[in-house]
Amino acid sequence: MKIEFSPPDISDLEIEEVVDTLKSGWLTTGPKTKELERRIADYVGVKKAVCLNSATAALELALILLGIGEGDEVITCAYTYTASASVIHHVGAKIVLVDMDKDSFQMDYEALERALTRKTKAVIPVDIAGVPCDYDRIFEILERKKSLFHPKNEIQKSIGRVAVVEDAAHAFGGEYKGKKIGSIADFTAFSFHAVKNFTTGEGGAVTWNLPGTDEERIYKELMLWSLHGQNKDALAKTKLGAWEYEILYPGYKCNMTDILASLGLAQMKRYEGLLKRRDEIVKAYTKAFEGTTIHPMNHYPKEGFSTKHLYIVNLEGKTLEERNEVIVKMAQKGVACNVHYKPLPYHGAYKKMGFDIQDYPEAFCRYQNVMTLPLHTKLSDEEVEYISSCLKEIVK
Ligand SMILES: Cc1ncc(COP(=O)(O)O)c(C=O)c1O
Repeated sequence: MKIEFSPPDISDLEIEEVVDTLKSGWLTTGPKTKELERRIADYVGVKKAVCLNSATAALELALILLGIGEGDEVITCAYTYTASASVIHHVGAKIVLVDMDKDSFQMDYEALERALTRKTKAVIPVDIAGVPCDYDRIFEILERKKSLFHPKNEIQKSIGRVAVVEDAAHAFGGEYKGKKIGSIADFTAFSFHAVKNFTTGEGGAVTWNLPGTDEERIYKELMLWSLHGQNKDALAKTKLGAWEYEILYPGYKCNMTDILASLGLAQMKRYEGLLKRRDEIVKAYTKAFEGTTIHPMNHYPKEGFSTKHLYIVNLEGKTLEERNEVIVKMAQKGVACNVHYKPLPYHGAYKKMGFDIQDYPEAFCRYQNVMTLPLHTKLSDEEVEYISSCLKEIVK
């Protein structure tokens, strides 16, 4: 047996759609990207979406639109991937990390409340593994602490409290209290990276929920920032004679291409089925581990729908070294496993910024004995059975 951790699920539908684009004569941002943006907005239940080349770009552009920079603070969780925090550094603001909750994979909301200062401009909650954070709780805290908040630009003023920029890299298709992820936070960033549930190879999207704000204006600003701040994109410039353009901001270059968007258009047609298959696999694993010392994270929160991006298990009583040994033994049996996450303060880059893992006891404790099993739609029932039998045998 050789079981990969997370291979992409690409069918003939994706291949045909990409070939269609290749034959169309238009490769970069164009009609297919615009179509994918419309489909994403419809699916999420918002007016508009912007496709980009990653969730990292989506998070960073959200911070840029919010006018966040030097002198500001942005809070996120210590237990996440670096992109949730590095974007704060990129815009010149101060990264503030809070520990994780004892009973979930979300941030400790009491620690979030304590971390708010007069300089805080945004919070980046992370829907780890596709399980939505407790957004009512987050908004309640930020509303209650509103007197600390001093807006810096028009968008911040219209929000009227610290902004919520949701890292939904894992959560495309997720729901919280009957609302789709993407329609709840002030800004939401999705990832369509090759290992994600829904993939365009590399890619991402940003949506926003800013009542009272001009939708077209936000869309246009995101367009500008994603393409050099140039007032005409490549498609507009193809109009005969319409060569002239103006650079309005020193923008980034993080637009999605039509080749990537065509993968997304095909994935969109298959996505409900892909989510259903993930659900079947999670249920099969969870049943197999009942009554053992292998404790899976809860993918069935009362208040929402998890996209089941990662199957993280806690190995009761194992030390860090023992957990690592289990991963090696699984590899010897042909099963690729992983760890989500090595907490940020445990990485060299964050240590250099002055973070100390001892200040994040819960994240460190969790990290020591978790591992992630393969969870993807190319897995057969037999493979799921093989993986769970191997793990049970090894940890016995
Ligand atoms: C929690 C989290 N946030 C953000 C990202 C960044 O996504 P992307 O690779 O699309 O920039 C990832 C990627 O794995 C992630 O796991």
